Amino acid sequence: MKSYKIALIPGDGIGPEIIAEGKKVIDAVADKENFRIRWTSYPFGADHYLATKELLNENALKEIGKMDSIYLGALGDPRVSPGVLEKGVLLALRFYYDQYVNLRPIKLLEGIECPLRNKTPKDIDFHVVRENTEDFYVGIGGHIPEGKSKQHLEVKRTLYNVKFGLDIEADGDELSYQIGVLSSKGSRRVIKYAFELARKKKKTRVTAVDKANVLTDMYSLWRKVFEEVAKDYPGIETEYNFVDAITMWFVKQPEWYQVVVAPNMFGDIITDLGAMIQGGLGLAPGGNINPDGISMFEPIHGSAPKYKGMNRANPIATIWAGALMLDEIGEEKAANDIVKAIEEVIKEGDVKTKDLGGTATTSDMGDAIAAKLEE
Ligand code: IPM
Ligand code: MN
Repeated sequence: MKSYKIALIPGDGIGPEIIAEGKKVIDAVADKENFRIRWTSYPFGADHYLATKELLNENALKEIGKMDSIYLGALGDPRVSPGVLEKGVLLALRFYYDQYVNLRPIKLLEGIECPLRNKTPKDIDFHVVRENTEDFYVGIGGHIPEGKSKQHLEVKRTLYNVKFGLDIEADGDELSYQIGVLSSKGSRRVIKYAFELARKKKKTRVTAVDKANVLTDMYSLWRKVFEEVAKDYPGIETEYNFVDAITMWFVKQPEWYQVVVAPNMFGDIITDLGAMIQGGLGLAPGGNINPDGISMFEPIHGSAPKYKGMNRANPIATIWAGALMLDEIGEEKAANDIVKAIEEVIKEGDVKTKDLGGTATTSDMGDAIAAKLEE
């Protein structure tokens, strides 16, 4: 029997509850499709950090690096300053494993009420391919004291290292800055992934997102690379959308979109909007993918600390992320089974969590989807 090793990082807030349902559903489909998952759980997140001051550790990273995939709940906790866990665990994992694609399907499932009037499942069905290692997420910046100062900033990536030495002279009393970095290799690989995805899914258009009318240096490079890559895909139509405009078009005419490729930060923003038009954050999955390495799957939503321990959150985004994970490790049939089971449970309408207008619990939803797989 085929067997896969998966690292489980439940994380904070509702993370452990939703990940438990995801695991339940994956174990159920594995039974049915005759493979086995060997899960190894890691405690990274707020409790572990508060108890030990450790965010991640090199041994665990090496061990996880040899596994088949990572299944993650959510990170973030009000007891820890904003950014510490997000950057120290979530982004650190994405960067360490060079998961340069953040793949986010925006798909309205049959039976889900769409907040957009007159839009149906056939109108909302596209993918956002978000760059996942660069842009303003490289995490360098600073606060500038009045007068003269020097600052040294460094970005270390699998593709390159870059150092900035800044001589700063300021007469304002409180200034701060943040540097975004794009590279042509970093842009090329994710744009290529978007075109390959379009080809695989038999789509005919790829839309590139940027703000090349204002952030002219960064995003002219992005456009140059996009044009170069597009030449290798003559059957696929291309276009540019500014990030502000695409938020409008996602609402007005979502049926236009097939594959959308975006730099990291704009991709982050537009996929929360994407989640809403597919029915809400409780329904939106994502994958952090390194096509040549280890990938990591998680819901798009956060840790929702106020619902922690209440067995109330909708686990569908996480369960669906589990399906994306199975697809990535080569269990496509099992992945499709899960999405079908989710759709059937939703269509039947007997089990609905609070966000969907019902009273079912997190575990009721997981149970229903797992049971559907066993039918
Ligand atoms: C996401 C989240 C993260 C991001 C945060 C928690 C760092 O918003 O996965 O979209 O900005 O990438
Ligand atoms: Mn986000």
